[in-house]
Amino acid sequence: MLKKEENELLVRIGPGTAMGTLLREYWMPALLSSEVPIPDCDPVRVRLLGEDLVGFRDTVGRPGLLGAHCPHRGASLFFGRNEESGLRCVYHGWKFNVDGQCLDMPNEPTESDFKDKIHQLAYPCEERGGVIWAYLGQRRPIPPLPGLEWLGLEPGQRYAARRVQFCNWVQALEGDIDQSHVSFLHRTLTPENGSTRHSNVDRIRTADTRPRFAALDTTAGVLIGAARDAGDAQQYWRITQFLLPFWSMTGPYGDNPIRHNRAWVPIDDEATLVFSVTFHPLRDLEEAELARMRKGTGAGYVGEANLLPRKSAPSGAWIPKANKSNDYFLDRSLQRTTLFSGIPEFWAQDAAMQEGMGVIFDRGREHLGTSDMGIIRVRQRLLGEARLRAESGQPPASALDPDLYGVRGAAVLLPESAAWVEATEDLRKVRPGYNPAGV
Ligand code: FES
Ligand SMILES: [Fe+2]
Repeated sequence: MLKKEENELLVRIGPGTAMGTLLREYWMPALLSSEVPIPDCDPVRVRLLGEDLVGFRDTVGRPGLLGAHCPHRGASLFFGRNEESGLRCVYHGWKFNVDGQCLDMPNEPTESDFKDKIHQLAYPCEERGGVIWAYLGQRRPIPPLPGLEWLGLEPGQRYAARRVQFCNWVQALEGDIDQSHVSFLHRTLTPENGSTRHSNVDRIRTADTRPRFAALDTTAGVLIGAARDAGDAQQYWRITQFLLPFWSMTGPYGDNPIRHNRAWVPIDDEATLVFSVTFHPLRDLEEAELARMRKGTGAGYVGEANLLPRKSAPSGAWIPKANKSNDYFLDRSLQRTTLFSGIPEFWAQDAAMQEGMGVIFDRGREHLGTSDMGIIRVRQRLLGEARLRAESGQPPASALDPDLYGVRGAAVLLPESAAWVEATEDLRKVRPGYNPAGV
């Protein structure tokens, strides 16, 4: 349970807020490279941390992110012409490059130097891992990108997609660090007929619905362990990494496993762009694996055919057909016979719960139990970091040290007597050629 002021501090990320200032210390995934695929392609609307921006790629291929409103009289640069290394406002023709410099002012006298005095808001961008990253902070020099494992892999080894969730970013993030819901929300009632993707794990989760939680702060975030009885004096430990400010890494399944990272990127206070990347540390993803993710069903992705027709609104390409307006395709007969939730898609089961709270839930009305320990710890960490940033003016260590992001989630069977942090230390490291099994 949080006091009203704490809840406000936690969820608000607009310019000038304490949490917004903390988030602006970090690079964030703004667009997939494929959304501005070629030089001089069509500009796209972007909304990040409550700020309206326009993304584009210039003639030599550099990505740019400009403030949406032209500094002349405020027309939207989304309507702009992307030409000859700059975005030209179609109202009176002013033109800006990716750095925000005004290159041309064709409605002013030729001898005027007014254009040299005009700068458009432009956020630094970098392109890596098939993603255009944006830095909305003021710090110079700009810190390095986070050293996430998949950024070092070949394009064929990763797949990324996004979806919009219409609730606050912390509410959405909390779903990924809440392990106890997995025994319920995602349960298949008839595993022999339904999803048997992780049948051993499903069996454990169904048999032991009361995981014991442990959490500890790391330099970059919080390490959350959830332990379930697995029989034979063993425990199934699933270890999730929360990494500041909005990354989550859950434990993998099976031998030589595929891995997942997610970022819960605030569009504004009331909407979140869920950025998901799936990767294999050692090999290219197989065609069948890619096809499953593109199709969506059961793969944790919405699937290309299950998105609403693309709109030009910010993130308008990533709005799922299964949404609040149709109860996420809830099917009561499925609920009686096959799926605990009755909601067909895995990701939609989560979305239904998190959006169903309302866009910003009043955490003063919660009653948290021992199974919410990870969530409590992550909230306290975020609040603590935001306060510290506000008081000190200094960036968190994690914003400056990319190596802190070279870590993994883990899932492992351990003897009951094992100390989980020490026993999983090696599993949580990123090392070339090393991809230990999950459970
Ligand atoms: S409003 Fe953009 S050039 Fe006038
Ligand atoms: Fe979930």
